[in-house]
Amino acid sequence: MVKLTGTKKIKIAIFISGNGSNMKNLIRFSKKKNSPIKVDFVLSSNKKAGGLKYLKKTKIYFQIFDFRQKSKDEKKILKILKKREIFLICLGGFMKILSGSFIDRFNGKILNIHPSLLPKYKGLNTHERVILNKEKYSGCTVHIVNSKLDAGKIILQKKVKITKKDNVKSLSKKILKQEHLLYPKALKKLLTKP
Ligand code: GAR
Repeated sequence: MVKLTGTKKIKIAIFISGNGSNMKNLIRFSKKKNSPIKVDFVLSSNKKAGGLKYLKKTKIYFQIFDFRQKSKDEKKILKILKKREIFLICLGGFMKILSGSFIDRFNGKILNIHPSLLPKYKGLNTHERVILNKEKYSGCTVHIVNSKLDAGKIILQKKVKITKKDNVKSLSKKILKQEHLLYPKALKKLLTKP
């Protein structure tokens, strides 16, 4: 991954499907002076995604692709990414699976945040499974996306303690709070020189 020096920022795209709190957090982070990123494009796979409400109040370019015609959509998306000179894609609650060829075209330059301590609890309904298994800890992970689900190189993780009082809702809230700290930290780690 390139390391930036000085005040230059790299252009990123964020892919969302839902509330978009990670997106909102990254947009806020991008506006900080010491942030290495500029959010140039947001893609939503869902026209009803909560995150779009916030996005419409910003000037950030966005598009909706429902991925029903995945290969056609991915071709169009790659064109947009190329035209806009996007260097990195950050998935933030993006619930579609990108094809192997799409991932290859953006080799090593797609990041994801997952609400568990990977390699544990890959996939969906993470918090439900963690609570059901009476785990004492969970957390969140920022990793590079490869063609295997939630299995790419781990950039950073944050552990979160689970108490007896925790349920799916409280745990997801606790973890989301940590996600919002972890994603910017991971971007800084990847993109800036120490
Ligand atoms: C986040 O907890 C994120 O880690 C998770 O979805 C939530 C999205 O929240 N992602 C996944 O489960 C990906 N497999 P947000 O839309 O408010 O950012």
